[in-house]
Amino acid sequence: MSFDLTGRTALVTGASRGIGRALALGLAAAGADVGLSARDVPLLEAVKEEVEALGRKAFVLPADVTDAAACTQLVGDAVTALGHVDVLVNNAGGSSFYGAFNDLRFSGWEKTMRLNVDSIVHLSQAMGRHMVGRGSGSVINVASVAGLAGVPNMAAYGASKAAVISLTKTLALEWGPSGVRVNALCPGWTKTDLNRSLWADGGADFVKDQALKRWASVEEMVGPLVFLASDASSYFTGQSLVVDGGQTAG
Ligand SMILES: NC(=O)c1ccc[n+]([C@@H]2O[C@H](COP(=O)([O-])OP(=O)(O)OC[C@H]3O[C@@H](n4cnc5c(N)ncnc54)[C@H](OP(=O)(O)O)[C@@H]3O)[C@@H](O)[C@H]2O)c1
Repeated sequence: MSFDLTGRTALVTGASRGIGRALALGLAAAGADVGLSARDVPLLEAVKEEVEALGRKAFVLPADVTDAAACTQLVGDAVTALGHVDVLVNNAGGSSFYGAFNDLRFSGWEKTMRLNVDSIVHLSQAMGRHMVGRGSGSVINVASVAGLAGVPNMAAYGASKAAVISLTKTLALEWGPSGVRVNALCPGWTKTDLNRSLWADGGADFVKDQALKRWASVEEMVGPLVFLASDASSYFTGQSLVVDGGQTAG
């Protein structure tokens, strides 16, 4: 079974809740042992129990990904706990500002870049050395449709995700000859804590121009992620897999 991850290992950042929690559980359901990272240890412990209920091993590896040294340490801890790492899911990210560009403070821009871009630079550099050294691996960067086109009121977030998509392509080219694949997963509007204020009243306005005309559940990101993590996508690298209910089809 090419989607099977039995015997594989994965590190997922932002695994305490939202999309990352669903992705970690999805990887475990497909057979992988997982390293679970985020800052909230009690939430990570709860996800660990859910992974173990699926019959897989899980390791709680707390880290703040905005801290460069913590990213390097996290990769080392994951390799020690799991033995080696086959799959890295750079999922931790978000945005604390929704509003017009003219109201954006530069400190907010820097904060968004630190969380969404710098974290992936530090984690990928440490993990890249491990994977390239082993001659195999799959890195999945959770970007966003916001990185594919202009999005009013989300300038910093959109620019950060566009940077992630560009980095994905470059790393795919640099690491491909060593057997390491790098792809981006680009979700559209997905119901999580990150954007609760936007969908709490239904959020119909945000999806009115999209084909499926509804928000995604976090579980709808799992199939595409398992595809990218597994041998099912063995000839797929440097790409953005857009999972957006047809938002960008129009
Ligand atoms: N929801 C959407 O509509 C949507 C659409 C496109 C892309 N995305 C992307 O999908 C990813 C996950 O988003 P989500 O909607 O699941 O968000 P969420 O529910 O807010 O979860 C964010 C996750 O990231 C972790 N995190 C945040 N800051 C961190 C830090 N400094 N260090 C370590 N971990 C940190 C959080 O854990 P702790 O708080 O425990 O640290 C949490 O596990 C993000 O990259 C986001 O940009 C989301």
